[in-house]
Amino acid sequence: LQSFYALNNARQIPLLGLGVYLIEPGKATEDAVLWALQAGYRHIDTASIYRNEVSVGNAIRKSGIPRDQIFVTTKLADRDQGYHSALEACELSLEKLGLDYVDLYLIHSPRQGAERRTESWKALQKLVAQGKVKSIGVSNYGVQHLKELLGSNPTIRPVVNQIEVHPWRTHQEIVSFCESQHIAVQAYSPLSRGHKLQDPMLIKIGAKYSKSPAQILIRWSLQKGYIVLPKSSHQDRIEQNADVFDFDLADGDMSVLDSFNIGYVSG
Ligand code: A2P
Repeated sequence: LQSFYALNNARQIPLLGLGVYLIEPGKATEDAVLWALQAGYRHIDTASIYRNEVSVGNAIRKSGIPRDQIFVTTKLADRDQGYHSALEACELSLEKLGLDYVDLYLIHSPRQGAERRTESWKALQKLVAQGKVKSIGVSNYGVQHLKELLGSNPTIRPVVNQIEVHPWRTHQEIVSFCESQHIAVQAYSPLSRGHKLQDPMLIKIGAKYSKSPAQILIRWSLQKGYIVLPKSSHQDRIEQNADVFDFDLADGDMSVLDSFNIGYVSG
């Protein structure tokens, strides 16, 4: 749980983070984040479009854990892409979170067209220079979007690409490209949003290690070398999802899980 990944800018990011996508703003988010921090998580992944940044910030303060020990990510919404709008959007996110900086700021998706993507990236670089953001990256980028960004010779290269990855959607082409460029892969929806937890083969592998299907999927992500962001709004599951550092999946079981790939999109 206290294991870290060294990003390409040498900053450390905890390997396991709580994703708060689809957790209601207010008590539900505050509770989930507090439970996670109490269980030892030190990495919270939110976004402007999740509408729960205020609650994430409240929980961080309530936890009493020093700010510099928690890794906080938020994301630039599509509607805010562009140079000035991105600067303003980040300011608003910081205000909502009640933080002076975020550890990681991501372009949430590439859907806004090349010009706005490029302008947004310039804004993110500016935010790093201003100290409002420690690291910058992208989310949902395909290989062509990554090539476009890297081809523009940015002053700062993206540290991560956050994508949906799990055994039913292995995204091998993007993952290989990211690895070749030292861009870390962050796996969102690592539990296939819960859709595939009843898979009989997965359950069988879980039984072998006395671990739940969710824990097997999180472990698969970690052994792939990804930074993994399981979401849950339940305390017992949040705790369970962090209990994944005391076992190793054998190569044969990793291969069985790899063979599940069908390009499944859970979102
Ligand atoms: P809940 O939030 O009600 O606990 P993903 O991270 O792939 O997006 O998956 C999130 C989904 O998986 C949510 O529906 C979440 O439900 C469920 N989930 C999270 N952790 C577990 C777990 N340990 N066991 C079963 N379901 C889980």
